[in-house]
Amino acid sequence: MSYAAYVFDAYGTLFDVHAAVRRHAGDVGPDYQRFSEMWRAKQLEYSWTRALMGAYVDFWQLTEQALDYTFRRTTSVDPALRTRLLEAYWKLDCYPEVPTVLKSLKAHGARIAILSNGSPAMLKSAVTNAALDTVIDDIFSVDALKTYKTAPAVYDLVTTSYRLYPNAVSFQSSNRWDVAGATRFGFRTVWINRSDMPDEYSDLVPSLILPSLEALV
Ligand code: LAC
Repeated sequence: MSYAAYVFDAYGTLFDVHAAVRRHAGDVGPDYQRFSEMWRAKQLEYSWTRALMGAYVDFWQLTEQALDYTFRRTTSVDPALRTRLLEAYWKLDCYPEVPTVLKSLKAHGARIAILSNGSPAMLKSAVTNAALDTVIDDIFSVDALKTYKTAPAVYDLVTTSYRLYPNAVSFQSSNRWDVAGATRFGFRTVWINRSDMPDEYSDLVPSLILPSLEALV
């Protein structure tokens, strides 16, 4: 079955959030994986708390604040790496299957979009760096609403703009909590379970679970 639009989460789904630290793994040192995981976990925690409080600051600022906290928690890592790690975040690698899968879905006539917590500038930079600008039709950023996933209004950005019912949209995310929010909203959802994590949110079941985006086409 094909869908009118295929909408993708950005970080962790199209772009590898751990690529920034990995690129500087030698300088970060043996704790680099834990460091990267804490950076990501704090960035997400800040998005949820701020959405609930109604105290939005954009995702780039949350990314900086999360990194600064991670440095303070990981004293073995030299804070002088801050600038290089932040720069790398603007040019994250995309996963290897991404260009082919997106092109193939587009060739079948579907609209291809990103729906992300990322700020418009961050998303544009990542898309351009991965040479995906010709295949991605639209980038929807939460910045238009000044809140974060999993607020239903975020998923509604797509359906309102495309004038589609939620079940005409196939939404892909590697973040299980994001899949829960999108399922609750009514999208057809695909959980891209890249690292073979156990399932969660048992009342908000994805339509499909795949190990990568490859089997989507
Ligand atoms: C995003 C984060 C949640 O791109 O991965 O929205």
